[in-house]
Amino acid sequence: MSGLDVQLGPLALKNPLVAVSGTFGFGFDYEPILPPDLFGAVIVKGTSLVPWPGNPPPRLMETPAGMLNAIGLENPGVDVFLRDYLPLLRERGVMVIANVVGRTMSEYVAVSERLSDADGIAALELNISCPNVKAGGMAFGTSVRDSEALVARVRQVTSLPILVKLSPNVSDIGAIARAVEAAGADVISLINTVLGMAIDVHKRAPILGNVFGGLSGPAIRPIALRCIWQVYQSVSLPILGMGGVSDSEDVLAFMMAGASAVGIGTALFADPYAPRKILEALPGDRDRLTEGRWPIGWAHPKGGCR
Ligand SMILES: Cc1cc2nc3c(=O)[nH]c(=O)nc-3n(C[C@H](O)[C@H](O)[C@H](O)COP(=O)(O)O)c2cc1C
Repeated sequence: MSGLDVQLGPLALKNPLVAVSGTFGFGFDYEPILPPDLFGAVIVKGTSLVPWPGNPPPRLMETPAGMLNAIGLENPGVDVFLRDYLPLLRERGVMVIANVVGRTMSEYVAVSERLSDADGIAALELNISCPNVKAGGMAFGTSVRDSEALVARVRQVTSLPILVKLSPNVSDIGAIARAVEAAGADVISLINTVLGMAIDVHKRAPILGNVFGGLSGPAIRPIALRCIWQVYQSVSLPILGMGGVSDSEDVLAFMMAGASAVGIGTALFADPYAPRKILEALPGDRDRLTEGRWPIGWAHPKGGCR
């Protein structure tokens, strides 16, 4: 696997494949098939200040070429993560990115501070798709002003690199990207899930307990590619691209759109061996499709693809 190392802003990854938040638990759910140190980095489950119980069931359903989830960010809270999981990840030499969630800006700040004091976390990823309870429940990440303010507040309390994870459920993703760049983000990760819902016509009722859920998997891959491309045109920050990645050609396509590293999540549910297959195929595919240029994220000018 040598020669696959990439630089994601300040982070040196041994390969470009990243396990994305919420699909890989705290790093050990897929062992022995997928040890966490297989990946260039592991982004752990969204972590809040206190434990969150999540949404009522049903929380998951399969869709054509994807999945709807309405987990509701259930997690045991930052203290349990730091006590029970971080030491194990550190022992294994995993590059750990902690995913931060909150209901208010102060909660994001408090979690970020706690994580920054710990030993063994390479970076924070702010999931800005959470509802802001002080703004009527509108997601932070759908407002340019709130996104900028949130990142600026967290920037003040951490010296760790900050990844900001953008939602595709906005009309101008480039504007959000520019705002978080101005506020001090180091890397942009995208995309989070696409809002959706499903109805059981026999029961004449929504299928998910939460009514709405987030669509992920191959169904959203074209949306992810479009968003990555638009963000690449809008900012000079490095990009961690994700959304429906299933094989090595998807990884290369995401890099051609502008990503420096690429996340995989829902594909693990369909084929837990997918990351191994990708890491085996990537060197050959890369040489075949890019004439050896690497990283290919930087191989095209802002104006278009070569
Ligand atoms: C079951 C599930 C749980 C998720 N939980 C989180 C989370 O806690 N924090 C977060 O930022 N994103 C979360 N996501 C979004 C994923 O990290 C990712 O952005 C999205 O699923 C698109 O990638 P994929 O199609 O490869 O899964 C979750 C996705 C799924 C399917």
